Amino acid sequence: MSDKRLGILTGGGDCPGLNAAIRATTKAAMQRGYEVIGICNGWKGFIDNETQALDNTNTSGIIDRGGTILGTSRFSPTREENGVRQVMDAFQKLGLEALVVLGGHGTLSVTSQMFKLGLPVVGIPKTIDNDIAETDYTIGFQTAVQIATDALDRLRSTAESHHRAMILEVMGNSTGWIATYAGMANGADAILIPEIPFNEEKLDRLCELLQHRIKRGRNFSIIVVAEGTRLEGRPVVVSQCKGVGEVLGEAVQEHTGLETRVSVLGYIQRGGTPVAYDRSLAISFGVKAAELVEKRLYGQMVALQGNRVATVPLAEVEGRVKTVPLDVYRTAEIFFY
Ligand code: F6P
Repeated sequence: MSDKRLGILTGGGDCPGLNAAIRATTKAAMQRGYEVIGICNGWKGFIDNETQALDNTNTSGIIDRGGTILGTSRFSPTREENGVRQVMDAFQKLGLEALVVLGGHGTLSVTSQMFKLGLPVVGIPKTIDNDIAETDYTIGFQTAVQIATDALDRLRSTAESHHRAMILEVMGNSTGWIATYAGMANGADAILIPEIPFNEEKLDRLCELLQHRIKRGRNFSIIVVAEGTRLEGRPVVVSQCKGVGEVLGEAVQEHTGLETRVSVLGYIQRGGTPVAYDRSLAISFGVKAAELVEKRLYGQMVALQGNRVATVPLAEVEGRVKTVPLDVYRTAEIFFY
């Protein structure tokens, strides 16, 4: 029984690679003499006193498993009356020295606030959206890009056979990282993302170029649209299952006469086994997090900067959304149509 105890929790949307990160953090911390306690279902595990001991045995064989063995939730102690106090009390009662939080944009912002309130925490960035500031990539992003690219490759063959415009709506919350990278990898004819405003004039240009493709004998098209994209003047009505993909599909068919079909990739992007890149990123982040805990360097987030694992203050990440840089989108745009 060690007198040094470390907590780990996964909060927010799940993603491939979380279990690889839990495994790495646990094994690296144990080698540093820590006993490791998993907090179940994100921050809520503190409130419900739902925990599970993590060790070499129950974190073996999970590196390739999707999801999180700890469970997750979008519960936030800072949004609940007395939530912060309950977490602090539970943290003390568990005899924890520190807490590693695997989170996305929202969870890590809460983690930064909890640090300012006195909780000794270290953050690990994970989300398929890749929208966390100060890190080039987040755990889960490359797997989502691969899943979306595979889907686009499959759509391309059926689009070509039926001479159709195929639209794939992908996730990304308020950014277009998945759409941009998967669209580029597939050679999509158009990529629409929230970072680039889309209006009727751009719709007309898109449709002109799709028709130009037909004249060149390329009588099918592949279009990727990020879920957060706004089509000016064409409201999205999610309650009627009319997401941005459906609205765009109707507009393209209306303008071009091209038979158009829409697929929404949804939660498939967040499921299943992580690609090798995400496994190694998760391992690097987990080992670095354990090192920060041992050195008591709290209030930090591990990050990928270039090809190096760095650390940045959580305060510099809090509340910021990393959007797709224009030059990255312009690179993809070279190959449109
Ligand atoms: O943040 C990851 C994400 O998958 C977003 O891309 C998506 O918009 C959101 O989570 C969906 O949230 P939920 O899983 O709560 O429906």
